[in-house]
Amino acid sequence: MNTVTAPAIRVQGIEKSFKDLQVLKGVDFDVARGSIFALLGSNGAGKTTLVRILSTLLKSDAGTATVHGFDVAGAPGDVRESISLTGQFAAVDEVLTGRENLVLIAKLRHLKNPGAIADELLARFSLTEAGGRKAGTYSGGMRRRLDIAMSLIGDPPIIFLDEPTTGLDPQARIEVWQTVKELADRGTTVLLTTQYLDEAEQLADRIAILHEGTIIQNGTLAELKQLLPAATVEYVEKQPTLEEVFLTLVGAGAGNDNGKDS
Ligand SMILES: Nc1ncnc2c1ncn2[C@@H]1O[C@H](COP(=O)(O)OP(=O)(O)OP(=O)(O)O)[C@@H](O)[C@H]1O
Ligand SMILES: [Mg+2]
Repeated sequence: MNTVTAPAIRVQGIEKSFKDLQVLKGVDFDVARGSIFALLGSNGAGKTTLVRILSTLLKSDAGTATVHGFDVAGAPGDVRESISLTGQFAAVDEVLTGRENLVLIAKLRHLKNPGAIADELLARFSLTEAGGRKAGTYSGGMRRRLDIAMSLIGDPPIIFLDEPTTGLDPQARIEVWQTVKELADRGTTVLLTTQYLDEAEQLADRIAILHEGTIIQNGTLAELKQLLPAATVEYVEKQPTLEEVFLTLVGAGAGNDNGKDS
């Protein structure tokens, strides 16, 4: 990670209230280019509110934020051209096929060869076989992957994922995690929100915990783990986690075109 270049996202002193409810009370953090940054917080902590501010959908009351070098308040158009946002609720049109969904977005973005763009993304997200089927027939994981694929059209350097795996089964979550890791490997900066500790643990280069309006901790996983003293253990047999058992039984890793009805 290059610490000399400007951060992809810089958040300084952001405040936001809804009437009497002060949700964000001065939020500060930086996200390095090409990294995965997880914003962790309970229900109602203000994660979506912050993502909406950074993606120019909502104005903050105080503070500044720059995304890809552009001020969210001063240059919202430039910010929007630099980002994509995958919201908490999937934006897929169920009546259209997976491929048609992708072609539609490529056309809306006035890109050349929308069909070729769609086919490339279907292949990249292991949806080629399912591409001709209505998205309404997709499993939750496939739908999420399609949703993320749609948000990548036009190659934005920064992507926001608001709770990308909420409601997915463990196997589908791992598929989405794989997708997110591949994005970062290609140099895309990812800011994701999650309520799941293991998701942050699996994915993030840095983790920030949003609690009662401010970032109460921000660090790498190793740094966060050092906050707690190691437990002294005499002898403990390593038990597999429930997730490991589940994934062994259902055969994880196979998960590609795992259509429900194939
Ligand atoms: N437009 C709005 N008007 C009034 N209150 C709002 C509005 N948007 C959010 N809030 C309130 O702000 C607080 C933070 O909401 P937000 O959606 O940002 O939380 P979150 O961290 O994304 O939660 P979740 O994990 O449930 O998605 C909540 O108490 C919510 O009710
Ligand atoms: Mg939310």
